[in-house]
Amino acid sequence: MCGIVGYIGKRHALPIILDGLKRLEYRGYDSSGVAILTDKGLSIKRKKGKIKDLIELVEHESIDGTTGLGHTRWATHGKPSDENAHPHRAGDVVVVHNGIIENYTELRSALKGRGHHFKSETDTEIIAHLIEDHIKSGESFEQAVLSAVNQLKGSFALGIMHIKTPDKLIAVRESSPLVLGFGNSENIFASDMPAILPYTNKMLFMNDGTMAVVTADVVQLTDFSGKKLAAQPKQFDISPAMAEKGGYKHFMQKEIFEQPHAITDTMRDRILFDTKEVNLAEARIEEKLLNSLKRINFVACGTSYHAGLAGKYIIEEMTGIPVDVDVASEFRYRSPLVEKETLTIAISQSGETADTIAAIRLAKKHGSSVLSICNVMDSTIARESDHVLYTHAGPEISVASTKAFTSQLTSIYLLAIHIGRRLNRIPKQQAIKYVDTLIAIPSMLDNILKQEDTLAGIAKEYSKHSDFLYLGRGISYPVALEGALKLKEISYIHAEGYPAGEIKHGPIALVSPDMPVVFVAVKGRVYEKIKNNIEEVKARDGKIISITTVDGEEIQKLSDASFFIPETDEMFTPILSVVPLQLFAYHIAVLNGTDVDQPKNLAKSVTVE
Ligand code: AGP
Repeated sequence: MCGIVGYIGKRHALPIILDGLKRLEYRGYDSSGVAILTDKGLSIKRKKGKIKDLIELVEHESIDGTTGLGHTRWATHGKPSDENAHPHRAGDVVVVHNGIIENYTELRSALKGRGHHFKSETDTEIIAHLIEDHIKSGESFEQAVLSAVNQLKGSFALGIMHIKTPDKLIAVRESSPLVLGFGNSENIFASDMPAILPYTNKMLFMNDGTMAVVTADVVQLTDFSGKKLAAQPKQFDISPAMAEKGGYKHFMQKEIFEQPHAITDTMRDRILFDTKEVNLAEARIEEKLLNSLKRINFVACGTSYHAGLAGKYIIEEMTGIPVDVDVASEFRYRSPLVEKETLTIAISQSGETADTIAAIRLAKKHGSSVLSICNVMDSTIARESDHVLYTHAGPEISVASTKAFTSQLTSIYLLAIHIGRRLNRIPKQQAIKYVDTLIAIPSMLDNILKQEDTLAGIAKEYSKHSDFLYLGRGISYPVALEGALKLKEISYIHAEGYPAGEIKHGPIALVSPDMPVVFVAVKGRVYEKIKNNIEEVKARDGKIISITTVDGEEIQKLSDASFFIPETDEMFTPILSVVPLQLFAYHIAVLNGTDVDQPKNLAKSVTVE
């Protein structure tokens, strides 16, 4: 996820664009840049690092112009660096981009064949060359953009400038957000409202498949065929601060609701939609490694550790490869039996967790290959791994990890299918079934998210309790652990996750009406067993909250509160069953007035032991 800003009008563009980028920094912060059309020509300034580094770069320069583009990057193709930072230029064309171009390699080789030379590793640079190529063939600026966007596959929100057409900018939207702001003798567009609100509240959210030609006085919308569309902006009554969270109360709530997109983006260009095959060539897992593979070992912390626990069930079930899972802080201090036939998989949202870094260094010392599942491009763990599978969840600002967790699970499913197919452990038809199940998840999540009020209602009923027990069996056991972690870390309420089959070995002594028991009780091979556990708790006057699948009617009768999730393959339920627990924890924390996004004593990334 990146942030783009474009301005054209009566004022100096630079300060407006820099301010807009600062307000969009939550969308990405590993490099940024600006392009300003001045009367002395084009000035482009780009810098690896945060917006403040770019501001320091330009603050002593006089870059006066009333037309400009800006970009803050969340790297997906090409590591964070000055040369990979946007804007990207080809001849007289300058482009900023948010999204992923899926067919950029074939477009790049075709353009190379037409004499184009590339300076960066990004997919974005090919867009500038493509437009320039069409202009060189005699097309107008507008027509060249339309020709180019009709050749692109993937997601793109674009800001485009043509030096020889200084009185206009072009904005394009396809599967990545773009908002138009309508001012007086000035117009602005950006990835999100916060960058626009200080200048105007009159805005229009562009639809997919549309282009806007923007001058200081006029905004002309067309579709990708060039057909003119009416531009009907609305007056929004919203403050800049509220807008940074997209109208949500907290980043955590926003990120919970971003999960369908995060999962879709993590799957994007890794599933070949015609053959339903999984393509993880980017991870570069060699045949030699796969053929000698004896064991997989996950190392991670916190929520990422819970993803690894679920990964054990997923990979062992799908591929028959033995899987161990270690808390990184334990792994690094024991004498782990790791050898070159072990694939160590590090899971880390930030890619900077000290214990996980130490764990992969130890694993490598023992000769193990390391694959990391990371959400931050070029982070320490990503850089020190032999193979990387990035989640594309976009920046996760809230300390409580939500969209990163479900994106990590998505990556693990893709990896299991990929390895299982290459080792002939998963028949082709079964793999297609898995892929179809995964593709159906985002819309199921949308259905769950639409029922937020139900969870808020259950949270209200139970927000004053001081102890909770979370129980699950099989692949729902890591979900129970994750649900308990969410509640304790943002609401400061004691919550413990446990394998449901263990309650008779101790925890059942705690059961009372004062300690609600949350069951993750989805339909599957241990459904009858977990139903028995619910009855055992009920028989001792326990309060029962259950997360169950649609046909879990019996469970509803046994529960004091229940929430239904859509029916799917049991192996894939964690991505669904965790979301009600995220919302339950979130609403209890809001009711209890804690600092949801920055809970006490916690940090987003634990970069020290
Ligand atoms: C989860 O909500 C917490 N923020 C924490 O447990 C986190 O998952 C853990 O610190 C690991 O962080 P990482 O994924 O960035 O390595």
